[in-house]
Amino acid sequence: MGSISLQSVEKWFGEVQVIKGVDLDIQDGELIIFVGPSGCGKSTLLRMIAGLEETSRGKILLDGDDVTHKVPSERELSMVFQSYALYPHLSVGENMGFALKTAGASKAEIAEKVTLAADTLKLTEYLDRRPKDLSGGQRQRVAIGRAIVRKPKGFLFDEPLSNLDASLRVDMRFEIARLHKSLASTMVYVTHDQVEAMTLADRIVVLKDGQIMQVGTPRDLYENPQNVFVAQFIGSPKMNLMPCRTDGDQFFLAGGGGGALPNASQIGAVQLGARPEHMGVVDPGAGQCDGVVQVSEYLGADYFHYVDCGPLGLMTVRTAGSAKDLEGQTVGLKFDISRLHFFGADDQRV
Ligand SMILES: Nc1ncnc2c1ncn2[C@@H]1O[C@H](COP(=O)(O)OP(=O)(O)O)[C@@H](O)[C@H]1O
Ligand SMILES: [Mg+2]
Repeated sequence: MGSISLQSVEKWFGEVQVIKGVDLDIQDGELIIFVGPSGCGKSTLLRMIAGLEETSRGKILLDGDDVTHKVPSERELSMVFQSYALYPHLSVGENMGFALKTAGASKAEIAEKVTLAADTLKLTEYLDRRPKDLSGGQRQRVAIGRAIVRKPKGFLFDEPLSNLDASLRVDMRFEIARLHKSLASTMVYVTHDQVEAMTLADRIVVLKDGQIMQVGTPRDLYENPQNVFVAQFIGSPKMNLMPCRTDGDQFFLAGGGGGALPNASQIGAVQLGARPEHMGVVDPGAGQCDGVVQVSEYLGADYFHYVDCGPLGLMTVRTAGSAKDLEGQTVGLKFDISRLHFFGADDQRV
C-alpha cells in the first residue's frame, strides 16, 4: 500500500513562505506528477513527502499514518534524484544492494533482489561495471534500481530525466511508464516539462508559486483548464489568448470578428483561448480574424505559423506539415468554436 495525503501543508524558509497550503490525496498505485515552472516549489514539496525537508505546518499521512515528523527512513519511500548520486567506487550491483547491506540483509537476499531489479531494468550485463563506465541512461537506471530493491511503499522522482539528451529522455520515459505498470506502486514524479507530465501521469498537479493551480488527468487539463495559467502551461505550442467581450450568446473580438458562444453561460468572459491546433487557415475575411504570417516553421509532421493579428496579438497556428508555407501572406483564421476556452478578468474559467 502507498497512499499519500497532504493536508494544508506549508513550508516556510524563515520569513519566506514557499509552499502555501497544499491539500492533495494521492491514491495507492497512482503515478502523479508535480509540474510547474522553476522555483514554484515542486522539489520542496517532494522533499517534504520524503522527510528530507521539515514541514512547517499541516500534516502528511502515509497509508493513513501521520508521518509529518518522522525521519526519511521511517517513511519507506525511495527517492530518485536528477543527479543519480551513485557511489563511484562501487559496482552497479553493489550500488543497487547498498541500502539492503546497511539494513543488515543477508548476502543471499541482497543477491536475489539485485538480480531481480537488474532484470527488470535490463542491467544484468552491467552488474560488475563502475558507474563511470555507463551511459547517462544506464546510470539513471541504476539509481532507479537502488530504489526498487528496497521495496518501498512509493517512489519519489525529482526531475530524473533532466540530465539526459532528448532521445534518451523519450526512451527512459517509456521505461518509467513500463516500470510503473509492472511494479504497480505509487510514484510521485517532479518535472518542469509538460510533455513528460502529459505522457506519463495518471494525474497531474500543476503548481505555481507554492500553490496548486489544478489537479486532473492529462485530458482534463488539456480540455478543461480552470484558469489561464494551466491553459497556457499545458499544451505545446501554448494556447493563444486574446481579449474578447461577450453580449448575449455572442462573443466579439477586437477588430470585428466573433461568433456564437458554445455555451450561453459563458457571459462575462474577457479573454478567449484557442489552441494552435484548433485554428485553421482560411481566406482573409472568412474566419474570426485576419493576420499576416510572420514565420512558418516546418517541423516535418507539422507547421507552426506565427500570425500577427494586429490588436489580438501574435497567434500561433498549427497545420499539417503537408500544408503550404505561408510566410508573408495575409490569411484568415477560423476557430473551432466548440473547442474555445473563455476566461474572466480574474483569469478563471467562466
Ligand atoms: N533551503 C532553502 N532556503 C531558502 N529558500 C529555499 C530553500 N530551498 C528552496 N528555496 C526556495 O523555495 C522556492 C522553491 O524551490 P524549489 O522547491 O526548489 O522549486 P522547483 O523545484 O519547483 O524549481 C524557490 O524560490 C527557492 O529559492
Ligand atoms: Mg526542483
